[in-house]
Amino acid sequence: MAGVAIIGLQWGDEGKGKITDFFSSSFDCVVRYQGGDNAGHTVVIGNKKYKFHLIPSGVLQNKKVVIGNGVVVNPRVLVEEIEMLKGNGIEPDLMVSDRANIIMPYHIMLDGLEEELLAEKKIGTTKRGIGPCYSDKIARHGIRMGDLINDFDKKLKRILKIKEKLFDAYGIKIDAEKLIEDYLKYAKKLEKYIGDTIYYLNSIIDDKNVLFEGAQGFLLDIDYGTYPYTTSSNPCVGGICTGAGISPKKIEKIIGVVKAYTTRVGKGPMPTEEKGQIGEYLAEKGKEFGTTTGRKRRCGWIDLVALKYACMVNGVDEIAITKLDVLDGLEEIKVCIGYEYDGKELKKFPSSIEILEQCKPIYETFKGWEKTRNKKNYEDLPVNAKRYLDYISNELKIPICIISTGERREDTIQL
Ligand code: GDP
Ligand code: IMO
Ligand code: MG
Repeated sequence: MAGVAIIGLQWGDEGKGKITDFFSSSFDCVVRYQGGDNAGHTVVIGNKKYKFHLIPSGVLQNKKVVIGNGVVVNPRVLVEEIEMLKGNGIEPDLMVSDRANIIMPYHIMLDGLEEELLAEKKIGTTKRGIGPCYSDKIARHGIRMGDLINDFDKKLKRILKIKEKLFDAYGIKIDAEKLIEDYLKYAKKLEKYIGDTIYYLNSIIDDKNVLFEGAQGFLLDIDYGTYPYTTSSNPCVGGICTGAGISPKKIEKIIGVVKAYTTRVGKGPMPTEEKGQIGEYLAEKGKEFGTTTGRKRRCGWIDLVALKYACMVNGVDEIAITKLDVLDGLEEIKVCIGYEYDGKELKKFPSSIEILEQCKPIYETFKGWEKTRNKKNYEDLPVNAKRYLDYISNELKIPICIISTGERREDTIQL
């Protein structure tokens, strides 16, 4: 009877979808609490690959799935995802918060236009309208899922009065009638799923097992990440309280998902990025192409400075290490243990991206190993792989609970 959190500790794409699916078998309910369809969570079962942008990955284990109030929902994407599941014979037992803000077509347009204006300083967003939608939420110009089924047209027109001033400046034209027509069609399809998830989650959390599936990653957090090269929500553990309406006292365990190396998609500093051969090797072997946008992910070594920071703020209890198999066959493997900045060693992750950009990683080098791919028992791992994992766990002072050695559900070692 517990709330358990699964949080990405790097720049997203750590394998949260796979880990969530794996754990979901022993949970009753799986909840998304922040982000939107900028997320792309992959679950591989047998030969079938599922990609989720909004619906929690626990849906494949036939669990109750909840989209919390902290998520921004593109109703079109949600309808598509429900239909994709139905097409695969899965009827999702889904509840969507009536308080979740809705992504509008103009949020997506603004996302693109703002990026264009930033030119070479652009963030490299997923262009899903995430930032503009959260901006409207905070400005109190948002429209929520509850509004979709309650006077949507009146509420939209009221908001458009303010927004149209901005649209004029950007040269955006919105066909309000068409927007209303489209969104009311989605409303019809989604109505039965919309409800008060806050009362629902609080009614079950003492008696049932609830899993909270983070999206993005800690280093993309709007408060803790490499601002402004971040997303616009709080993927950190605190996001669960505000994004699902759950007291911190109800979160009993926090599992951090860590890729055995580092990737980042989009712009912004990444001290351990390998721009040469190693980076290419990791990208190719790890199939590091974005689940949502198909963009190539930047790759490099694991970064313990960043991970210690992530573990500290989130109070991580256990770590799930993913994609260990991608490092198979390398002669040596590096671990960043500190940064060199201005002739001194930095042990803290700096708040300034200008400083972070100038940080040079200080590495500890490990001998590689032959094969971990598809291994299912810890005993079968090569000794050098065990050394690598032990070192990371000892440095972070956190036990490893899962080692993932392949994309399929069964390629998982539980410790
Ligand atoms: P998420 O956003 O954190 O859920 O991660 P993504 O799904 O965007 O990206 C992770 C990718 O790595 C997906 O294609 C997964 O199928 C794949 N993956 C997950 N775990 C492993 C693993 O242990 N080994 C390998 N080779 N691939 C994995
Ligand atoms: P999952 O849940 C990796 C990145 C974008 C960009 C920045 C801001 O699959 O791990 P946004 O569209 O959110 O305004 O983009 O954040 N980003 C992600 N990177 N995985 C994700 O989600 C991401 N969601 C957003 O690439 O750099
Ligand atoms: Mg992803």
